[in-house]
Amino acid sequence: MKTRETWGTRAGFIMAAAGSAIGLGNIWRFPGEAYEFGGGAFLVPYLIAILTAGIPLLLLEYTIGRRYRSGPPSAFRMLSPRAEGIGWWQNAIAFFLATFYAVIIAWAVCYVFFAVTRSWGEDSAMFFGVDFLAASEDPLTFGEYRPTIMAALIGVWVLVLVIMLGGVRKGVELANRICIPLLVVLFGVIVIRAVTLDGALDGLNAFFTPQWDTITALETGPEIWLAAYGQVFFSLSIGMGTMIAYSSYLKKKAELSTTAVTVAFANSSFELMAGIGVFSILGFMSAQSGTAIGELVGVGGGVAFVTFPAILNEMPGGNFVGVLFFASLVVAGVSSIISMVIVPFSSVEDRFGWSRKKTVAVIGIPMALFSILIYPTTNGSSMVDAVDFAVSGYGLVLGGLATIVLAFATGKIRVLAAEANRTSVLKLGWVWYVCLALTTIMLTLVLILNVKGQIEDLSDPEIANELIYINWGVGGAMILFGLVMTAVMYRRPLPVANSEDGESVDSGSATA
Ligand code: ALA
Repeated sequence: MKTRETWGTRAGFIMAAAGSAIGLGNIWRFPGEAYEFGGGAFLVPYLIAILTAGIPLLLLEYTIGRRYRSGPPSAFRMLSPRAEGIGWWQNAIAFFLATFYAVIIAWAVCYVFFAVTRSWGEDSAMFFGVDFLAASEDPLTFGEYRPTIMAALIGVWVLVLVIMLGGVRKGVELANRICIPLLVVLFGVIVIRAVTLDGALDGLNAFFTPQWDTITALETGPEIWLAAYGQVFFSLSIGMGTMIAYSSYLKKKAELSTTAVTVAFANSSFELMAGIGVFSILGFMSAQSGTAIGELVGVGGGVAFVTFPAILNEMPGGNFVGVLFFASLVVAGVSSIISMVIVPFSSVEDRFGWSRKKTVAVIGIPMALFSILIYPTTNGSSMVDAVDFAVSGYGLVLGGLATIVLAFATGKIRVLAAEANRTSVLKLGWVWYVCLALTTIMLTLVLILNVKGQIEDLSDPEIANELIYINWGVGGAMILFGLVMTAVMYRRPLPVANSEDGESVDSGSATA
């Protein structure tokens, strides 16, 4: 039997897991979400979600990955013979995520070059929306391709697939060993520059002041809580099979608990650092222009590609800071996207015994082509928004929910706790169970309220219904894929399991 590859060192795995977590979500998405939901209003649900849902789920996924030593479909099947579809569904989530994520990395690649001369000019919003994206109004009309974005996107995919061809140690681990230290240096310089700007303190006040009434009100609360959970899941790369896939390459004796805490801490530190950097800079901009922080142009993706360039125009040394900022987006993005691509890669390799070369050809290249055909278009940014919400608003959250429910419903939660405790410094016990149980209640509530909110949005003339339909369509397609794969694969036994001793774990699955 072919020996399964493992990470070279413990530090190698920690860097890869941190590299997966620290990504566009930290630099591009988090400040945008925090900005959209009123700064401090977002921070409280975010921190609660990290502690009660993020870290416990990270531990659950690490444990599943290490115990079953397989990509998500086979791992879920070993957990319960009927649950293989959850793993395939997570493949669909990782697929949609990776394919839109790549285009944001491509935008950042272009902006590294633009930053050198600040070629976005005086009106960065106009440059981003009209000159660069040529964004169309109608999200359902594909419009034209944007050659610059397409060229950068092709470059991103070539790099990703070359890294994947290198395998776990010589590809993914090596890439992260380069990306993470580089990222710390690049971003460190930006944050130091940002907090020393005039007005930075006002920005930090906006970021750190909680607005309790917004968080607790029934009209605004569910949306903020869902966004916070979505952000945490996106940011820690949970609910999409990534951490199951990564930890499936761990050695049986690998420590899990301090690893999870280290990764979560590194990720949140980076996220807070990005928030501090971006809000300091927003404070600076507000002081310069006299506009209140909450009313500065651009939200969401706009913070990175619209607000930030506008501020760089006003900032001494803005070109240099700009190059660093967009380069850090690229580096962070690359170390994360490879962890999404590894989900389908590990899935088919473990389930069908494919070689890495075959996987690149049959899964990697079509995945790249899908991304290259759909997103570098004039409606690409609308598609990114709609698919991002389907993936992080629903997909990841439901993916995490399904994992917890399955672990409890099959009674395997105790087996998994014992598995983690076998090698872990911090022992998993009732606190872990309670956090996971509370998370299911919280996620269910938030999801129901959010669907209700979206149904109400359908009659709001200000909100494009097409985006809501794309949102539901992508969400539905992902679930359908999981169901179809469950039906197709149910009668196909697992190949001899990938566990070190060659036996299937938790019995029954191999002959189901
Ligand atoms: N965890 C990755 C990020 O934060 C997906 O961007």
